[in-house]
Amino acid sequence: MKLNIALLAGDGIGPEVIDQAVKVCDAVAKKFNHDLNWQPALTGAAAIDAVGEPYPDETHEICVNADAVLFGAIGHPRFDNDPSAKVRPEQGLLKMRQKLGLFANVRPTFTFPSLIDKSPLKRERIEGTDLLILRELTGGVYFGERGRKDDGNTAFDTMTYTRAEIQRLAKKGFEIAMTRSKRLCCVDKANVLESSRLWRETVQAMEKDYPEVEVSYEFVDAVAMRLVQWPSDYDVMITANLFGDILTDEASVISGSMGLMPSSSIGEKARLYEPIHGSYPQAAGKDIANPLATVLSAAMLFEDFGLTEEAKEIRRVVNKSLAEGIVTEDLADGAKAYKTSEVGDWLAASI
Ligand code: IPM
Ligand code: MN
Repeated sequence: MKLNIALLAGDGIGPEVIDQAVKVCDAVAKKFNHDLNWQPALTGAAAIDAVGEPYPDETHEICVNADAVLFGAIGHPRFDNDPSAKVRPEQGLLKMRQKLGLFANVRPTFTFPSLIDKSPLKRERIEGTDLLILRELTGGVYFGERGRKDDGNTAFDTMTYTRAEIQRLAKKGFEIAMTRSKRLCCVDKANVLESSRLWRETVQAMEKDYPEVEVSYEFVDAVAMRLVQWPSDYDVMITANLFGDILTDEASVISGSMGLMPSSSIGEKARLYEPIHGSYPQAAGKDIANPLATVLSAAMLFEDFGLTEEAKEIRRVVNKSLAEGIVTEDLADGAKAYKTSEVGDWLAASI
């Protein structure tokens, strides 16, 4: 298969972890006879510095015309403490999600047998966890009307959802649930929010189209608690943009390191793959960041193109590296810590 992949390394540790994913993908392509054509493009603070814009039109052109986008991370501390900054790297990410129509963000959480004791949660609580949070990504409070009034002394951000937005996300949720354990949990705040009541009503109306799927409805605050109490109770969850943002960070600690969890963002046409960790500026340029979340995001990419064996091969070598202790410092636990690039080289050579 020939695939054109836009490569958006972005900021902080983005370029380093992306480099490792490219090595691994190239090794897979060689082994399985695929032709990968990488198309690097600017985004984030790196793009602001170069052209004054975090998601330039040239980058969008490359992404729209590519079969998929592999994305590193976005964000730079020099913008974080400057509320007056007019352009911010994160705006690039939001603009990209919106312009590419990436409405469904797929964030799986699973445990690795060799790392189970690295989790801050007890073994018996997390063993067998394999859940997937499907976060709505182009609507809700992230994209609602916002502003200031009262001479700047009142600020508002509005959470708006249309039935159609909920339906297309829920449809994905039902479809994914059908390929897994056929359990779907709609996470909302319907006891308070009108938009959540529309979520519930819409999902309830869709239940009859998927008679095999067992649907439950839970409030987001209760889920925040139960997710760390009994994560293995959950399978597929669907939720609004902001709730999903918060719950997926929470869920990422279950596996033991935020550096492990991959994600995909899916639109009608576009597909983007990215680690869920951020740009981790303290580690930038030091060759110490964990590249596995990005490498596993590349496995999701192969899988979505029907290249299941290729995805399996990536997961096999990742598991092997963890079992053999070829890991970066976040997982080394007093033993030898390998460099980001060494882990990438080891994975590519093991394929
Ligand atoms: C994420 C990030 C982004 C978000 C930020 C960087 C805008 O936290 O992808 O989860 O809030 O969606
Ligand atoms: Mn987030």
